[in-house]
Amino acid sequence: MCNLILTLFIFVLGLLSLEVSAQPFHTLVTSLHKDPNTSLHTITLTLDPTEQYLVDLDAPFIWNRCDSLQSPVFCDESDCLAARSYMSPLCPETNNTRSSDQCLCYDTPVNPITGSCALTYASRNVLTVYWTAGRSLSTYRIQYFNRYVSCAPSSLLQSLPAQAIGVASLSKSTLSLLSQFIIDDVTQKFSLCLSSSSDDQGVIFFGDGPYYLEPPANFDASSVLSYTPLIKNPTSLGYFINVTGISIEQRAISVPANTFALDVSGGVKLSTTVPYTTLRSDIYSVFMSEFKKALGGFPRGQKVSPLEYCFKTNVTRPTKVQTIPQIDLVLGDGGYWTIHKSNLLKQVDADEACLAFVNGGNTAEHAVVIGTYQMENIMLQFDLAQSRLGFSTSLSSFGSSCGNFDFTVRP
Ligand SMILES: *[C@@H]1O[C@H](CO)[C@@H](O)[C@H](O)[C@H]1NC(C)=O
Ligand SMILES: *[C@@H]1O[C@H](CO)[C@@H](O)[C@H](O)[C@H]1NC(C)=O
Ligand SMILES: *[C@@H]1O[C@H](CO)[C@@H](O)[C@H](O)[C@H]1NC(C)=O
Ligand SMILES: *[C@@H]1O[C@H](CO)[C@@H](O)[C@H](O)[C@H]1NC(C)=O
Repeated sequence: MCNLILTLFIFVLGLLSLEVSAQPFHTLVTSLHKDPNTSLHTITLTLDPTEQYLVDLDAPFIWNRCDSLQSPVFCDESDCLAARSYMSPLCPETNNTRSSDQCLCYDTPVNPITGSCALTYASRNVLTVYWTAGRSLSTYRIQYFNRYVSCAPSSLLQSLPAQAIGVASLSKSTLSLLSQFIIDDVTQKFSLCLSSSSDDQGVIFFGDGPYYLEPPANFDASSVLSYTPLIKNPTSLGYFINVTGISIEQRAISVPANTFALDVSGGVKLSTTVPYTTLRSDIYSVFMSEFKKALGGFPRGQKVSPLEYCFKTNVTRPTKVQTIPQIDLVLGDGGYWTIHKSNLLKQVDADEACLAFVNGGNTAEHAVVIGTYQMENIMLQFDLAQSRLGFSTSLSSFGSSCGNFDFTVRP
């Protein structure tokens, strides 16, 4: 009897492991790099690490520099119709081009830094990423053939990180990377972990955790997330959260109600194409004056453009009398996004740090645009299926960082 049960047990185990080995992975992974000159982050999408793409949470589709059109997209393909529905109103009007026997898809990629457009053909390309069980690269890669990548002239690369050969869309568009990678086993979410240092690779996961960032041993960054809803903005492909205030030492700064509301003042957006969080002037001036009041005992330093408010300190080793006030984004669902001091102040010199926020001017389109400096060394999960943003506190509080993913291939 015992033997029979044991045999049954082994048989069931055998079935289970068959199931598991048929579909061993559910998550894709690739590396991110911080460009020291622009402080922006790029993503690796091929086996050639010198081919980097700027990470863009708003772009409608992927584009890269290409000298000649290899595999064109034709006008009647659904990808062409999608790309043409996302044309920027800031770009010149363009039509598909018809020759005697074929019609080629014409689109307008945009450089997110300079705002310039190119009129060009849509093309198809290969993208390659690794499967992971969460701890390192697996021996399995996946090659996605025939992905929609617009073929842009190299002049469109101006002002992008020097390593960038194009722009990778991580927006809600149907042509974004997440949609291009879609296969049954990858859920509709990606998790971005931007490294604060150009010397360490950051990491992006497509699909569910675990996301191990070791050391410390067994630290899984997917287990330390708080969530807040992503709010719908029908006029944007990007990501917005419901912020109702900014607090300094738990006291809300004095700005009118609705200052951050999407329908009233453009809302609060996340962007990977601005290096520092940008506050519209009315918010910036109140925030600055209240922050200065809260910050005692620091002598003023020289401005370091584009940062305006600098003072004498060493962020990693402030003196005992110097305390840095706690800054929180107050969220509409009752939660808080606490901005860790390493995301708040930028050490610009051995003994000088600046508040890493910039003035967006009076006519800024959005009340607040959260930039990359405030997203570094935290795990940010964009969950499109559940329309929510997962965010961690600074990974340094767990003794880890975004640079701690193991990018070696391990069987
Ligand atoms: C595009 O096609 C429309 C309709 O045929 C035409 O009115 C328009 O002038 C064309 N635009 C360009 C830039 O060729
Ligand atoms: C940074 O910019 C300088 C001057 O523009 C250039 O010489 C250098 O190669 C750039 N470095 C990187 C890493 O892009
Ligand atoms: C944002 O949060 C506030 C406060 O809970 C709520 O009244 C408002 O409806 C929310 N806005 C959106 C767009 O969800
Ligand atoms: C801050 O001070 C610590 C200890 O004195 C030192 O090791 C570190 O290099 C300083 N940081 C900067 C950016 O100078």
